[in-house]
Amino acid sequence: MASYFAWEEKTHVDALIVPLFEQDNTSAEAALINDRFHNVLSSIIEINDFEGEKGKQSLVYTGDDQVKRLLFVGLGKKDQLSVRRWKQILGAAVLRISKKKMTDISVLVPEAVIDAFGASVAGRETAAAIEIADYAYDEYKQEDARVTHIEKVALRSVNNEIDAMVAAAVEGKYIADGVNFARELGNTPPSIMTPALLAQQAKELAQFSNALNVTILEREDMRQLGMGCLLGVAQGSELPPKFIILEYVGGESTEQPTVLVGKGITFDSGGLSLKPANFMTTMKFDMLGAATVLGTFRAILQLGLKKNVVGLIPTCENMPSGSSYRPDDILVAMNGKSVEIGNTDAEGRLILADALSYAAEKLKPKEVIDFATLTGACVVALGTKRSGLFSNDEAMVSRMLEKADERGEQLWRLPLGEEYTEAMKSPVADIKNISNTRYGGASTAAAFLEFFTKDSDGKAAYPWAHIDLSSAHHGEKGTPYARAGATGDVVQTMIAYLN
Ligand code: BES
Ligand code: ZN
Ligand code: ZN
Repeated sequence: MASYFAWEEKTHVDALIVPLFEQDNTSAEAALINDRFHNVLSSIIEINDFEGEKGKQSLVYTGDDQVKRLLFVGLGKKDQLSVRRWKQILGAAVLRISKKKMTDISVLVPEAVIDAFGASVAGRETAAAIEIADYAYDEYKQEDARVTHIEKVALRSVNNEIDAMVAAAVEGKYIADGVNFARELGNTPPSIMTPALLAQQAKELAQFSNALNVTILEREDMRQLGMGCLLGVAQGSELPPKFIILEYVGGESTEQPTVLVGKGITFDSGGLSLKPANFMTTMKFDMLGAATVLGTFRAILQLGLKKNVVGLIPTCENMPSGSSYRPDDILVAMNGKSVEIGNTDAEGRLILADALSYAAEKLKPKEVIDFATLTGACVVALGTKRSGLFSNDEAMVSRMLEKADERGEQLWRLPLGEEYTEAMKSPVADIKNISNTRYGGASTAAAFLEFFTKDSDGKAAYPWAHIDLSSAHHGEKGTPYARAGATGDVVQTMIAYLN
């Protein structure tokens, strides 16, 4: 992570990033650059090389030792400014700069951005965007092919609220650290990022706070609790399953906790209902629900959140073998409900069933939010840039959508409903793990989960939201503002939601 400080007269940088709005040659920033660098901006605009269009970049060599290069970046139309756009444009600037192996940069944050977001939000989101763009998963590459990371960032502004921006940048760094931690866990190859290593990573989070207690349940503990679904999915793998419990007491000891549940399938081959080869690549990412929980915890521990939060991570591998669970098996979850197996590739919902039952039986949650790379159907519905949100609680939905927007992430609500619940009926068990129809797969999966959020009378045991991460959890090619691999999507929203 870089260090952030206020620009001073003595500061020397490899490049100064200058974000500008469209047709913006009269702003205070434009004047500052023109005065200092021989009307360079006016000249560029005059020859139509740069007009501030969204995403456009123009790199200029100054011949000046203090600021060696200027990188003009277009923010587009001023009335279309959003946190998302600001972070994308800045992230793209960082990726451009890192191709030239620069380490010391400065960002001239426009007054109009500070006016729109406030100085703290501007500082926080600027640092978050820079750190997220700076992250690369390249430890297996030869050293000379690895990314050069940004070390110093001088924040600069014509506005005098620079100190507030610099102070808030620390918060942005912690947030990005949580996001990048989730990405790192996800990017690590599946033979290495096993359930045991995931459990160890959770244990190591205790270094950030005395208020965190981490417990790992082993196979025998799961047997005693009756976690038949998690045990069933795990039985085809050589690797033992783990059930990770993180308890953070940042608030009063009597306060009910928010419970975060994350799907931790460290590799999803599909099991005996084996995936075709081209659908099996990227299935190392099937633990990104778990990584979302761990990344969120890492950030809230460092930020010293004053609330109680519990994390539950059922984790195992889904593998084919002679000991695998089979289609036609019936598994019994911790709450005593039985599940007919129609397809062993619908395994995520099974391990979550035990975790959701655990929350109802062992904890008194204020609310429960689960995160899972659950269905290919969600990708079909939403594309690759927004995650699916399901909930039985309107207040949770509106807060979640608001927080996503505030941090520049995108959630889209999808429906729960009677017709989806109906489609999960089984002739031989209480419920089936695949639906009777091939339509609405993201919603039928959510309906399966909902079944395990109910108490024995069939009433909601707690307010609940489910986030299907399948759509935006990784990018094969990367984006202009973040490198390829796991995206850490939704971690920032959750940090804001819990705050
Ligand atoms: N992990 C997958 C879902 C997934 C697929 C996430 C593609 C991201 C990208 C999940 O375990 C799965 O295989 N779901 C099946 C369910 C089906 C068998 C009902 C699916 O979506 O095809
Ligand atoms: Zn699967
Ligand atoms: Zn899966």
